[in-house]
Amino acid sequence: MEYLPHSRREFLHLYSFTDGLLLLDGMTVHIYDTCALVKKSPKEEKVRLCHNQEMGIKMSNTRDLVMLVDDNLANLMVGKEALSDTYSVITVPSASKMFDLLTSYTPKLILLDIDMPEMSGYEAIKILKNNPKMKNIPVIFLTSMNDSDSELQGLNLGAVDYIGKPFSAPLLKKRVEVHILVEKQKRSLQDYNKNLQEMVANKTQTILKLQNKVLQAMAELVEGRDNMTGNHIERTQHCLGILLSNMFAMGVYQEETNGWDIGLLLQSSLLHDVGKIAIHDSILKKPGKLTKEEFDEMKKHVMYGVKFIEKLEEDQEDSLFLQYAKIFIKYHHERWDGSGYPDNLVGMEIPLLGRLMAIVDVYEALTSKRCYKSAIDHKTAVNIILQGRGTDFDPVLIDLFEQCSEQLPFSMLYNKKSNNESFSLLDVVSL
Ligand SMILES: [Fe+2]
Repeated sequence: MEYLPHSRREFLHLYSFTDGLLLLDGMTVHIYDTCALVKKSPKEEKVRLCHNQEMGIKMSNTRDLVMLVDDNLANLMVGKEALSDTYSVITVPSASKMFDLLTSYTPKLILLDIDMPEMSGYEAIKILKNNPKMKNIPVIFLTSMNDSDSELQGLNLGAVDYIGKPFSAPLLKKRVEVHILVEKQKRSLQDYNKNLQEMVANKTQTILKLQNKVLQAMAELVEGRDNMTGNHIERTQHCLGILLSNMFAMGVYQEETNGWDIGLLLQSSLLHDVGKIAIHDSILKKPGKLTKEEFDEMKKHVMYGVKFIEKLEEDQEDSLFLQYAKIFIKYHHERWDGSGYPDNLVGMEIPLLGRLMAIVDVYEALTSKRCYKSAIDHKTAVNIILQGRGTDFDPVLIDLFEQCSEQLPFSMLYNKKSNNESFSLLDVVSL
């Protein structure tokens, strides 16, 4: 220590850097180069920054930083001697000082003595591994406890290796080299995976946007053919979103809805009437009531839609989007009491998405102007739907619908009186 030109000898802590020395005695920090005092301040952090930035101490940018923690000064010196021709080495006399330095430096590797006063290496590694910013720094234990239990304990606590003391300098260097290389390869693999994931996510987003646009265009095509007015598709999707969000908020059918993807559900709901594209204009656009034969033909729009989705599924078997779409299409005309179509399913036999779409579709049909009827106001439409509780519709969903009916967005736009037209559910729900 004779090379330290300072009048005080009672230094409590020593940090030695590759190209300089930093000394702490309590709150006062003294920074030395190899021959003279260059800075003095009560604030350690401030001084440490000055040390590197202003005084030009060279922490090499190209060398990997290794932190060597040991309460034995001789071990620090030997370890530093062994590593400093290849690495930037910070030698640290205790675990608590190691944590101080880790707020400013992130070493590529820590060589940590186990048997230290105040805080042992075992305690220190537990703190390191519980800190998100430090947990990925590989730790090699240095110890004179050469029994296999101690070694196992160290490895179980997260150390990557275990070197017995007294250590051989070439072996220490080789082990450090290997673990830094492994860590670099691990990081590079993680970066590669991250970039790959980002690339896939971007591509997926682009495909989803395109898919949504194509489907929206298709749905609008159907809407145009059906002579619907006032953004039927958009309103149906919006109403469904309101019912779904309330359903989640109130925990209605919580088990069944677990894992549902709302975004995909709303997108796929656009296709619920896509089969109408195959219905002839003379039926689809007929201004009056349909004959029985015409009505039977109209009912086929459900199975036309299902076939359309199944064709798409030939290339995309696992598409959740298509699975949702098929359920909406196939079951939106089923009725709670079994009077619907195509399969006359009863009650809970009807998939939940079908039971939901049934309500939304009827509400939307009632409040919309069609070629065979005028629009009715929101309040009347809600009352008509409430009358279908337990006959046409799932009673639980009707209670939900009643509770959130005032949130339905287009009631203000469809407040026309019914012009004494008498509506029954049968007039609108079947189409
Ligand atoms: Fe339909």
